[in-house]
Amino acid sequence: MSSLTYFAYLIAAVCFIMALRGLSSPVSARRGNQYGMAGMAIGILTTFTLPQVHGYLYILLGIAVGGGIGWVIAKRIAMTAMPQLVAAFHSLVGLAAVLVAMAALWSPENFGIGASGEIHFGSLVEMSLGVIIGAITFTGSIVAFAKLQGLVSGSPVRFKSQHLINAALGAGAIALMLVFCATEAKFIFMLMILISLALGVLLIIPIGGADMPVVVSMLNSYSGWAAVGIGFTLGNPLLIIAGALIGSSGAILSYIMCKAMNRSIINVIFGGFGSAPEAAGGPAAKDDRPVKTGAAEDAAFLMGNADSVIIVPGYGMAVAQAQHAVRELAEALEHKGITVRYAIHPVAGRMPGHMNVLLAEANVPYEAVVELEEINNDFATTDVVYVIGANDVTNPAAKNDPKSPIYGMPILNVGDARNVIFNKRSMAAGYAGIQNELFYQDNTMMLFGDAKVATENLVKALKAL
Ligand code: TAP
Repeated sequence: MSSLTYFAYLIAAVCFIMALRGLSSPVSARRGNQYGMAGMAIGILTTFTLPQVHGYLYILLGIAVGGGIGWVIAKRIAMTAMPQLVAAFHSLVGLAAVLVAMAALWSPENFGIGASGEIHFGSLVEMSLGVIIGAITFTGSIVAFAKLQGLVSGSPVRFKSQHLINAALGAGAIALMLVFCATEAKFIFMLMILISLALGVLLIIPIGGADMPVVVSMLNSYSGWAAVGIGFTLGNPLLIIAGALIGSSGAILSYIMCKAMNRSIINVIFGGFGSAPEAAGGPAAKDDRPVKTGAAEDAAFLMGNADSVIIVPGYGMAVAQAQHAVRELAEALEHKGITVRYAIHPVAGRMPGHMNVLLAEANVPYEAVVELEEINNDFATTDVVYVIGANDVTNPAAKNDPKSPIYGMPILNVGDARNVIFNKRSMAAGYAGIQNELFYQDNTMMLFGDAKVATENLVKALKAL
């Protein structure tokens, strides 16, 4: 590899780091994406110039077909379906790692890692690690996709001695790796792939739906480490750097999500090891206590007489695509001299930054969007909180009920406000499948209906005041 190639790869690597930095805030996310695209373009073009790269037509055809499919999917995908799309994409990275390692084993000369039967020991170790992580990522991501897409049930699948079997399979894969590195036997290599494929399925099936986005982020991390394995096999430093960036950023993101959801990262990594709280979803236990309900006019009256309003968006806003109606509501309130801010919980919605992305799409000013730690003390001095399609992230059970599956999760203290308006369609539970005591609180009014329709009616009623 020439020094010019190394230099170009270095620039691409810097672009990738700038991309990650940019993506850390909605303000700079677009620029971050552009850095990522520039880094990828430099990486691909530089790789084209390598002497060992042949068959440009096939490569260009592959880029055109893959890029075309990616373009169509990206245009069509709903924001709420993003976690399963990411899972599906990760499965491809895992599969690529397995296929590259197989190609390298069958024709090592083309990869510059020795001759058949005499592959360098280091390369055998790299290939084995790449293939084990890749195969686990492949099937694990497919299971995660199927659970999130609703193709199979999201409930955890548990059976006797599950962890023992997983541990035995893990130990088996490592033992096969040692034998393979000593013998270079193709049969052992294929057995190693089969065991890792099975392990991928078994690691993910015991994880419940609520933990699935954390799993997706963890699989993202695995796919990065699988790419590192391919990078070593191909002797490509940029792939190693990009893989390591994905691997470590995915792991950090999983850790942040686990903390925000009060889940144990060990449970996630080792497939529900221990007693992870199960996400039930669906309806909460039947409760016949009365709740205070109101119409759009009642909510508008409360808001119209307020000095300050905080809007708390959640998953329901995303489902209803109500973000534009929410911005109109804020504008109508501001027109009346009322201060409006948005409170964002780190795991509101179904993926990190879900609410920030939707609000940014609706051109909500960034400075009005405030994170949990910064706004939580302000609820007590706020006149009206409008909770639109959020539930778990406001649930006081996280503070008061040690038996609750969300116990320990930080929540937005919306109950401290003078008035709380909850918009949702029914009394159904949120993702954690548990009742929210706030619905029955004296200062709460339920505004039932689809988030978009209800908010649009609210805007009309507010303008008519
Ligand atoms: P949830 O607790 O899931 O509550 C969303 C509420 O929105 C539901 O109670 C639902 O009630 C309502 N809703 C659904 N469709 C609606 C519509 N069209 N119009 C109005 N309301 C609608 O959401 P949240 O408060 O945002 O909390 C997020 C949950 O997801 C947490 O438990 C979190 O741990 C979990 N989670 C988040 C992430 C990330 S990274 N964000 C990842 C994994 C899991 P109705 O059916 O009565 O309308």
